[in-house]
Amino acid sequence: MKMNLAKLNKMKQQNEKIVCLTAYDAGMSSLVNQAGVDIILVGDSLAMVVQGHKTTLPVTIEHMLYHTQMVQRTNTNAWCIADMPFMADADLATALKSAAVLMKDGLADMVKLEGGGGVFKTITALTDLGVPVCAHLGLLPQQVAKHGYKITGRDELSAKKLLNEAQQIEQAGANMLVLECVPSALAKRITATLTIPVIGIGSGVDTDGQVLVVTDVLGLTEKAPKFAKNYLNPTAGSIQKALTNYVAEVRESKFPAKQHLID
Ligand code: KIV
Repeated sequence: MKMNLAKLNKMKQQNEKIVCLTAYDAGMSSLVNQAGVDIILVGDSLAMVVQGHKTTLPVTIEHMLYHTQMVQRTNTNAWCIADMPFMADADLATALKSAAVLMKDGLADMVKLEGGGGVFKTITALTDLGVPVCAHLGLLPQQVAKHGYKITGRDELSAKKLLNEAQQIEQAGANMLVLECVPSALAKRITATLTIPVIGIGSGVDTDGQVLVVTDVLGLTEKAPKFAKNYLNPTAGSIQKALTNYVAEVRESKFPAKQHLID
């Protein structure tokens, strides 16, 4: 049965962990569906893990469309989020156009935007038009040129700012939030404060769900981040089993464990 927003909201209310993985093509989309993920993210991380770029900045809306279309051809059950790439939401008109491409031509179920204050208006405009929106706070790879890979929320001031932005994002109409590399106590607090599902990456075990980049899960990334886990170990023995083990560990709150924290 196809996942939808109502079910994802219910999972949050019932404390059932939400499982998300990235996928970038039809083959992997099929495999992660078989493993039972709730959400597929067609992340702009594909710039790095598929296209070989050093950052996510070079990926275009045309590339995102191409990969979203491939994923959606074999996606039977999962809710599909497509990333708005760098500058695809530079102004409101561009953001609406980009979202239309991903939703109408790519058949995405939701679009994801990175950032805090700069995206509130865009979130409201999109959601008013019926486009489900996932926001993305914490470490923002699209701002690497300005800030580097900056971890926020470690001191009281930036923790307050992050909590405030998360609340404003919900008020602006966002339907979901990804928290990347946010200290686990703060991620827990944000998750408890918001009514929308909060999906964490490198943000501890207490968010409503987890997302990882699929190439990290399958040990294909040369230098995987500390918060990731390679499930394709000798005991797993197959890609399918590795993906199933990831899903099971998230459902049982066994992943992330202490060694994956960035606190
Ligand atoms: O692009 C991506 O894969 C992402 C995840 C790291 C959350 O945004």
